[in-house]
Amino acid sequence: MGYKVAIAGATGNVGREMLDILAERAFPADEVVALASRRSLGQEVAFGDKTLKVKDLATYDFSDVDICLMSAGGTVSKQVSPKIAAQGAVVIDNSSAWRYDADVPLVVPEVNADAVKGFTRKRIIANPNCSTAQLVVALKPLHDLATIKRVVVATYQSVSGAGKDAMDELFQQTRAIFSAGDVVTKKFTKRIAFNVIPHIDQFMEDGYTKEEWKMVAETKKILDPKIKLTATCVRVPVFIGHSEAVNIEFAKPITVEEATAALRTAPGCVVMDKREDGGYITPHEAAGEDPTYISRIREDATVENGLAMWVVSDNLRKGAALNAVQIAEALINRGLLTAKRKAA
Ligand SMILES: NC(=O)c1ccc[n+]([C@@H]2O[C@H](COP(=O)([O-])OP(=O)(O)OC[C@H]3O[C@@H](n4cnc5c(N)ncnc54)[C@H](OP(=O)(O)O)[C@@H]3O)[C@@H](O)[C@H]2O)c1
Repeated sequence: MGYKVAIAGATGNVGREMLDILAERAFPADEVVALASRRSLGQEVAFGDKTLKVKDLATYDFSDVDICLMSAGGTVSKQVSPKIAAQGAVVIDNSSAWRYDADVPLVVPEVNADAVKGFTRKRIIANPNCSTAQLVVALKPLHDLATIKRVVVATYQSVSGAGKDAMDELFQQTRAIFSAGDVVTKKFTKRIAFNVIPHIDQFMEDGYTKEEWKMVAETKKILDPKIKLTATCVRVPVFIGHSEAVNIEFAKPITVEEATAALRTAPGCVVMDKREDGGYITPHEAAGEDPTYISRIREDATVENGLAMWVVSDNLRKGAALNAVQIAEALINRGLLTAKRKAA
């Protein structure tokens, strides 16, 4: 007897990807239900070779649901996740609503899979921000090797990270520019087509944005609270795939060869690094793929033990849907979750 899995936000970018990933990985689900807002009632979404009719999240009865993969935004998650958890399901949430709650594990399975055990406190597990997820996958093997002291990261984040409406905005603006039409800006603060915007999420008092703050707080919670990190997060006119230019300072000496060898065998990492034209990864190639790709590994001679590298991953997969499904698998593989129908 398998699990009953609910996808909340099934009509969105992340929700659709979750359905694809559950089907691809033959997740042990007997039943999968697609949930969204009332606006989407009766709409159909694909799940493997089937289609599922979308139901209303607000009125759904979770009493026989084992796992709820939640990607309906922070406000919705704050409201409904405790109610779903109270009905005995485990909620794996993609928003930032629960990430900094001391009673909620924040998990990237390649880095801190054992932290899932802490789910019993609130029956909620949080997924990190998309930029943090791929970063910590690449940092973990290097931290194990030479202890990271400080990270400086600049992100190049695709529009899909801001939801399906943001993807439409890039498409519409690009079309308008080519056909001399009106360029309408709604989702972003400035034109995104043929432009880059150094601003994601709201500004904070210290001049950083919330997106930048999230990378700091989440890296500390997932990997090591002693790591210092500073980020500049930038939206770029790419549909899918986040890229990051990363400079790392270590406590101990580490060579490019040692770092490359560690990354080659690390879970979730693929090194694509030839020092020649095209010998590196771009987001276009990473879209639709599961790994975190690392290229351009080189010494940063401006600090004592320094390395620089380029990290790219599909933000909808490792940055959200894949990570959430991997968390569910980590719970199951550790014997922490019995299907309600089996237990009955
Ligand atoms: N995109 C990424 O790379 C990424 C990465 C990490 C985390 N996340 C997080 O994942 C969540 C979803 O992101 P997304 O990119 O998939 O957004 P999206 O494409 O805009 O989709 C939003 C989903 O939430 C549903 N929803 C909105 N309001 C709702 C309500 N009141 N009740 C029920 N369902 C509601 C929508 O349903 P309708 O279609 O019915 O409106 C839709 O299914 C966000 O919290 C986001 O921060 C995204």
